[in-house]
Amino acid sequence: MNTMTTTATTTVLDASDVTMRFGGLTAVRSVSLTVNSGEIVGLIGPNGAGKTTFFNCLTGLYVPTEGKVSYKGTVLPPKPHLVTQAGIARTFQNIRLFANMTVLENVLVGRHTRTKEGLWSALLRGPGFKKAEAASHERAMELLEFIGLAHKADHLARNLPYGEQRKLEIARALASEPGLLLLDEPTAGMNPQETRAAEELIFAIRDQGIAVLVIEHDMRFIFNLCDRVACLVQGEKLVEGTPETVQSDERVIAAYLGTPFEGAPGAEEVAEVEAAEAAAPGTDSRTEDPK
Ligand SMILES: Nc1ncnc2c1ncn2[C@@H]1O[C@H](COP(=O)(O)OP(=O)(O)O)[C@@H](O)[C@H]1O
Ligand SMILES: [Mg+2]
Repeated sequence: MNTMTTTATTTVLDASDVTMRFGGLTAVRSVSLTVNSGEIVGLIGPNGAGKTTFFNCLTGLYVPTEGKVSYKGTVLPPKPHLVTQAGIARTFQNIRLFANMTVLENVLVGRHTRTKEGLWSALLRGPGFKKAEAASHERAMELLEFIGLAHKADHLARNLPYGEQRKLEIARALASEPGLLLLDEPTAGMNPQETRAAEELIFAIRDQGIAVLVIEHDMRFIFNLCDRVACLVQGEKLVEGTPETVQSDERVIAAYLGTPFEGAPGAEEVAEVEAAEAAAPGTDSRTEDPK
């Protein structure tokens, strides 16, 4: 079943000129980014570049100071539950599972935005509720099957090894039946095998017709996985293009190596700090005790 070849490409996510200021700090500055159907888009950039803040602006966790975010042609209200309902799901940089719930229960929690059964029906446990519950259970098990954790459905989330907790977070996000999945550093802390498995999982998600936007530090992972990559540096989008383009862009390389290039955002401050450090006696790291 390949729906992607017959379906025309459409814009799933359209973020335009998103700016997020915290007091005097501009964490994200006028960033525009689109994600199309069938695409896996990567968002890279050094620590503190504003990647997570940008995600938070997309998902309604933050109300952007400026700019707007549309999902499938409709402007999103900055409210997380409405964004989820609209069709965007996410995972977090720091795992947020219900540690004392089972694996299955964690996925069921992710389904509640898609269950039409209301509060009264749930409380009275009427026939509608029982039917909806059975359907939810079935779908949750299907998702656990998909990520390869069905055999651990009854385990407590906190007893899973780290890599499986990450996968479970993805299953919980998928339980809301999203059209776009946002992943914030999905392979952080994973070993190479787990990272490869995560790569396969994300390809499989894309093949199910879900567009993916992924933040990651692991360059090999990103350049393997993504159709398009955007690089944020100090809150600004520096480069965007194919993995090949971004990979060979000297400004991206410089940003990662920490060498400021001419005209780089923040290059002046970096130069100032370096000059001050060079001027200060006894701060040469090479002469310091390594411990
Ligand atoms: N809620 C907040 N309040 C104030 N500053 C914040 C907040 N969230 C993030 N920041 C700042 O915004 C900048 C970007 O952070 P972040 O988006 O987490 O970067 P990244 O995910 O690229 O590492 C950092 O300087 C960070 O300290
Ligand atoms: Mg982050």
